[in-house]
Amino acid sequence: MASDTLTVIDNRTGRKYDVVIHDGAINATDLRQIRVSEDDLLGLVSYDPGFMNTASCQSKITYVDGDRGILRYRGYPIEQLAEKGTYLETAYLILYGELPTKSQLGDWTYNITHHSILHENIKKFIDGFHHDAHPMGMLVSAVAALSTFYTDAKDIFNAESRQRQIYRLISKMPTLAGFAYRHSIGMPNAYPDNDLSYTGNFLNMLFKMTELKYKPHPVLEKALDILFILHADHEQNCSTNAMRSVGSSHVDPYSAVAAAAAALYGPLHGGANEAVLKMLMEIGSKDKVPDFIKRVKSGQGRLMGFGHRVYKNYDPRAKIIKEIADKVFEVKGRNSLLDIALELERIALEDDYFIKRKLYPNVDFYSGLIYQSIGFPLDMFPVLFAIPRTSGWVAQWEEMLLDPDQKLARPRQIYKGADTRDYVPVEKRR
Ligand code: CMC
Repeated sequence: MASDTLTVIDNRTGRKYDVVIHDGAINATDLRQIRVSEDDLLGLVSYDPGFMNTASCQSKITYVDGDRGILRYRGYPIEQLAEKGTYLETAYLILYGELPTKSQLGDWTYNITHHSILHENIKKFIDGFHHDAHPMGMLVSAVAALSTFYTDAKDIFNAESRQRQIYRLISKMPTLAGFAYRHSIGMPNAYPDNDLSYTGNFLNMLFKMTELKYKPHPVLEKALDILFILHADHEQNCSTNAMRSVGSSHVDPYSAVAAAAAALYGPLHGGANEAVLKMLMEIGSKDKVPDFIKRVKSGQGRLMGFGHRVYKNYDPRAKIIKEIADKVFEVKGRNSLLDIALELERIALEDDYFIKRKLYPNVDFYSGLIYQSIGFPLDMFPVLFAIPRTSGWVAQWEEMLLDPDQKLARPRQIYKGADTRDYVPVEKRR
């Protein structure tokens, strides 16, 4: 018998099965042969709500070792990319597998820069939202609307078309976000400025006032660029799974990105940084922290920005963010909520409840403090996550499309409902 197999004895029947192990995994479909009887047509299934222990794909993009706190894109440690790289070269790396040469980076930057303009009708579309619409809700809808402007995007098995949509998506997400933000504060839109960097231009579209030329503060521009690097991809998280799952129906990438962004909007995923700030403001002062921790431990709410499905150690992104925070605070002044956050972290890391459950600060714990100090309002926080994550989403989408193993995503279920029964006319129902 080959050694890379799993021997299973079904105690219901006494039958023995050998299931092949490949790359540390068994194929769930191999379990189908395990049946109680000939009329058991479905066979054995694995039950795994939330995909706690199910690999849905093979991927070459991002490696996470949650126990050791390691994150690498295409083999490059996140710490090195954050220290030495830029967001645009990281996006290129994530998509194409290698860091770009000088000329590749030049072409890539040119193409991303020159696809940033939106069709004017998108402006009208955004104008239709109520003045206090959440910018993330506007972003989700507006990116879905883009699919109606680029009908060539349906040609998903045409490499050139895919490339065009990738340029457009990475380039237009900041413009959509800028327009959504300006709409929410009743300001006229600021159009993209091709002389600026990706993050510099984003700051321009948000904060430009009456000056002829907006000049981003280099420290804030760099801090945002690093934050974008840290958020570019994170393997099979909730929104990426949505991107792959929706994309597996062969819909156009704008519709799939809208689905991914909708998944990111939730407070357990990309909405957590907004929730962290709200929590810090609610706590109000450092002396109230022990009381708050007590409430969390008794099951009244969660310590937002703590815990992760994969990291059972300090999230490596949180460490880098903590360092950037100091640089931003030097420019913008210390965020008064920082002391509450530091106290929460100090107490939680010494507390048995958090130690036993391996709950450490995640990427969202400190990012919100930086965003707030730069001048972003709370409801822009998930938007700031969605912009850089777009490169990860489209890379994972393309990898899924080109993977011959991938199929239409369609999980199984364990049916627990009523057995067959006859229709009852309404006058006879009790
Ligand atoms: N505060 C208090 N208790 C917690 C927390 C928390 N933040 N997170 C998990 N727990 C407890 C939970 O109550 C449970 O305890 P028990 O075993 O006694 O029932 C145990 O830890 C395991 O929790 P779980 O919900 O089964 O774990 P999960 O892997 O499903 O949850 C999580 C992961 C991120 C949803 C969760 O840790 C959480 O809700 N954190 C707060 C929200 C947050 O910061 N989200 C951002 C995640 S990082 C950004 C991203 O990558 O999307």
